[in-house]
Amino acid sequence: MIYVTGDIHGSIDIRKLLENNVTKKITANDYVIICGDFGLVWNWKKEVRNEKKWLNWLNDRPWTTLFVDGNHECFPRLYSYPVKEWKGGKVHEIRPKVLHLMRGEIFEIEGNSIFAMGGAASHDRGPAKGDTDAVIGTGWWPEEIATTEELDYGLDNLEARGNKVDYIITHCLPTFYQEFIKKGEFPPDQMSEFFEYLNKTVEYKHWYSGHYHCNVDITDKISVVFSRIIPIGAAVRDSELIIGIPKYRRNDTVLVKLGEDNIRMGIVLKVEAYGPFMKHDEPYYEVHFYGDEIEKHGTMVKETMIIEKSMMD
Ligand SMILES: [Fe+2]
Repeated sequence: MIYVTGDIHGSIDIRKLLENNVTKKITANDYVIICGDFGLVWNWKKEVRNEKKWLNWLNDRPWTTLFVDGNHECFPRLYSYPVKEWKGGKVHEIRPKVLHLMRGEIFEIEGNSIFAMGGAASHDRGPAKGDTDAVIGTGWWPEEIATTEELDYGLDNLEARGNKVDYIITHCLPTFYQEFIKKGEFPPDQMSEFFEYLNKTVEYKHWYSGHYHCNVDITDKISVVFSRIIPIGAAVRDSELIIGIPKYRRNDTVLVKLGEDNIRMGIVLKVEAYGPFMKHDEPYYEVHFYGDEIEKHGTMVKETMIIEKSMMD
């Protein structure tokens, strides 16, 4: 089975891959694809201790880890790993069971054709923040945007297959969907414009992306993944929640069912992924309900008591 998940940013968001109700089911025959911002090849000089530790840890998982690159990768180092032919395409072998799916390649995995095209524009550093010189080569690399050659290579590979693949794995999305999800905060760029073109010319079953740090199906065929691990072909809405990974965040406005006729709206003050004293198997939230005295402590509620995140945000 092939699974798809979102950004891990080195060890920062790797938690979803630790042992949990979903990863326990992933076997040695399976693959987990990360939709960019892998981030475990990050130091600009060498594999430092923390990277080594987590890369070896990933290599020791039962499954094989695959990833497309995002915008938070140290590209010169990523490109320094050996290039190998693997399942019809080219990969950088970071470890025998940790492989970077190179840009524009099409892989045949378990009878599925998968088009990989990493890369995305950074919005938190580099030119977007006007500080290219300060971070270039340390926390930001211009290679985050694919070159014309890489894009053309991808187009040629797709064309050779009649512009038809089963799945597309990228870090960012076509401009239209990127603007929809970021409400204009991320302006169009070369990658999103390329994907805009791809979306109009390529036939596919499902498109998965990362980058936006949320779990959402934008259309029936396009999903953004972050803290879910989704069997390929499925949508976010069909995927299993990972216990211990909170669905809501601090400052979210939520509707909570406190009793049969008692539904209240409040704001999340604190998130406890495993409940108070880490003794529970679902997240708890301290919620301040509107109308309660401001000095009063919030009320602890279980995740299952929250009906939904309010659209008032
Ligand atoms: Fe990210």
